[in-house]
Amino acid sequence: MKKVIQTPVDFYDRIVPVYDVVARHNIRPYRRIVKNLEIAPEKSALEVGCGTGNLTVALAVVMARVLSIDFSARMLERAARKMARRGFNNVTFRQMNAFDLTPEDHGTFDYCFTAFLLHVFAPADRLLLLSRIARLATERIVVIDYAPGRYRLRYAFVEWLEKSHYKEFLQADLAGQAETAGFELVDYFEDGDYGCWEFSPAASGK
Ligand SMILES: C[S@@+](CC[C@H](N)C(=O)[O-])C[C@H]1O[C@@H](n2cnc3c(N)ncnc32)[C@H](O)[C@@H]1O
Repeated sequence: MKKVIQTPVDFYDRIVPVYDVVARHNIRPYRRIVKNLEIAPEKSALEVGCGTGNLTVALAVVMARVLSIDFSARMLERAARKMARRGFNNVTFRQMNAFDLTPEDHGTFDYCFTAFLLHVFAPADRLLLLSRIARLATERIVVIDYAPGRYRLRYAFVEWLEKSHYKEFLQADLAGQAETAGFELVDYFEDGDYGCWEFSPAASGK
């Protein structure tokens, strides 16, 4: 299997308390974005890289069932506590690497979501991850991150800390990159600084 070079799991384990102070403010925009997607009732979702569970909260409200995965045990602990406090029982958490997801082992889902994860990877690995996810999605792959062209100086700090690819990601044309990998962009909209890309997995040649 191709070796993916990325931010190590210990980094995410270590940043949990600080990360969640900032990231919990995303629950509101995530709710608006998920509402905007007009998802029919009784749909299932896979959430890849759930972190401390802020998108998970928004998904639990509208989806019949959610599997949220992350490779950081400490991120997952925080996410599970957040869901328990809110009394949701339609979410399952699993600690695993996103690149190990397979339809054979994990089943398929109507929707696959990933928020603020793709910028972590260099373009080739980003597309590799999208292709992996696409194999588990029957209707849509939804990507949420900062909108293109919204590069701000503070993201440079995040990029430096995380050793990620924020600048390139925000200057790149994700839809264009994804198209070369066979994905069709169905819709794109923005909510403030956030962009939401909806891809169809049908065109991914699976
Ligand atoms: C920037 S955080 C975003 C968390 C969450 N989606 C949100 O919007 O708040 C990225 C998350 O992806 C997880 N992650 C990074 N690489 C991963 C991988 N290869 N497999 C699974 N999870 C990964 C990290 O542990 C972290 O929780």
